Amino acid sequence: MPSIQAVDIVKRFGSFTANDKVSLQAFAGEILAVVGENGAGKSTLMNMLSGLLHPDDGEIRMQGTPVKFGSPRDAIERGIGMVHQHFMLIPVLTVAENVVLGHEPSNGFFDRREAERRVDELSARYGLKLQPRARVENLPVGLQQRVEILKVLYWGSEILIFDEPTAVLTPQETRELFVVLRELATHRRTIIFITHKLKEVMAVSDKIIVLRTGKVVGELITSETSPREIASLMVGRDVLPTVHKPPPRIGEPIVVIRDLHVQSDLGVEAVKGIDLEIHGGEILGIAGVEGNGQTELVEALTGLRPATSGSATLKALDLLAGNSTVKTSAAKVREAGVAYVPEDRRERGLVLPYTVANNLILGLEDSPKFSRGGILNFSKVRSWARGLVPRYDIRPPRTDIPAGNLSGGNQQKVVLAREFSEDPLLLIAAQPTRGLDIGAAQFVHERLVEKRDSGTAVLLVSAELDEILALSDRIAVIYEGEIMGIFDAGESNEEQIGLLMTGGEERAAEQSIDLEAPALVQG
Ligand SMILES: Nc1ncnc2c1ncn2[C@@H]1O[C@H](COP(=O)(O)OP(=O)(O)OP(=O)(O)O)[C@@H](O)[C@H]1O
Ligand SMILES: [Mg+2]
Repeated sequence: MPSIQAVDIVKRFGSFTANDKVSLQAFAGEILAVVGENGAGKSTLMNMLSGLLHPDDGEIRMQGTPVKFGSPRDAIERGIGMVHQHFMLIPVLTVAENVVLGHEPSNGFFDRREAERRVDELSARYGLKLQPRARVENLPVGLQQRVEILKVLYWGSEILIFDEPTAVLTPQETRELFVVLRELATHRRTIIFITHKLKEVMAVSDKIIVLRTGKVVGELITSETSPREIASLMVGRDVLPTVHKPPPRIGEPIVVIRDLHVQSDLGVEAVKGIDLEIHGGEILGIAGVEGNGQTELVEALTGLRPATSGSATLKALDLLAGNSTVKTSAAKVREAGVAYVPEDRRERGLVLPYTVANNLILGLEDSPKFSRGGILNFSKVRSWARGLVPRYDIRPPRTDIPAGNLSGGNQQKVVLAREFSEDPLLLIAAQPTRGLDIGAAQFVHERLVEKRDSGTAVLLVSAELDEILALSDRIAVIYEGEIMGIFDAGESNEEQIGLLMTGGEERAAEQSIDLEAPALVQG
């Protein structure tokens, strides 16, 4: 009997049907992958299985018996734990506090020592390294993800649901997570996980269900299918894997970075003397494992973080605050012609309660395109937004709903639409396709090449080596705040770059799960 089952589940938001008679089942010991385009209804479905949302129709069954969850707490008590797409941690609390939160012993007494000991024990057992006393707000996203996973393990959940757990993990962390998932499956747990990365689906799942526009369009056995088949079911047509990229017409240097030093939030030197030039008409890719100074580099370039020393000059303008004759701010940098797709869309890219239309002009409010004398012309904003929404395939195609109501990938499309629509001198794109489905990622790749071909200098920062290799004209490898080497496209291979990304040392002994093996569909 399936340990968990959804039977003809329906979920509507107003007149919109997000789940239309969706059924699935998963057995103990099984890993079920759920795939589908952005907005297909994956998170909605999982939120119902974990008690956060309530179905309008249909039934959830556990071991064949219908169950109803009033709240996530109900679901947790029945053994269902979920790691959400957007973290639900409390930033000011420590790792141990977050893990134990809501599950303190019934006498209400929080035994800090005991909590820290349990967290240590669990993290050792599952290879999820964490400092129990670290404050969550000081952790990089990859580690925050571990806290979420540890929380679900701490609850002792029998059914574990992961919503895009690998979106913020490094390839190494992903491999480690998959070892954990396999281990849990061996112990008769049921695992359901969502991902956009088909190589992950192939590497770790037993079964797959494919959702499209709220309906199940395919149920597959992993060993009997291929990435191509899954992709075409997801999108409803054959997906062409490659980006068409003519040779670049490289122009003048647009940005010149000299001996740049930048500190992290913790006051540690994160960028250690970087020299780089980015030319108009080229895509310069920064390859690196996350947390090697990319974030600080990008924030310094965009005026969000002061540099300790060195310079970055955009044509005539000194980009860096604290180091310039003209005091530079994020707004000035933008005015000077820098567009920026931040890696953390919900933190920096969007104001979630604002409408899609308002988010599409965020930072551009004072542009003469939209306002005169400080007064916003709403009809201009609306018509601008109505042009971008279909062009970027933002679903549902509405400009008047809060950005927070969009699916994760569609939120990302809003940021991209806004930043790509300007005609910048420099476009900085940090992890631009994180959380995007295959079709949308390909669309973004095409737009990046288009920007390049119109003469923009494009700085692409990505943890996906595939993406860097497919798009970059030059590749700079960053490791511990230093550039380890710069290569022309075609002059280097994946192995060489991968080696430099880890500091040139032999990579740690590979785990048994091989992520590179299956053919990649994504370009
Ligand atoms: N609270 C809400 N109010 C209104 N509409 C919503 C709400 N939550 C989700 N939706 C809509 O339901 C649809 C499905 O969203 P869901 O988050 O389930 O997609 P998803 O498959 O997880 O996509 P992604 O891959 O982008 O995360 C989307 O069109 C979304 O806009
Ligand atoms: Mg989702």
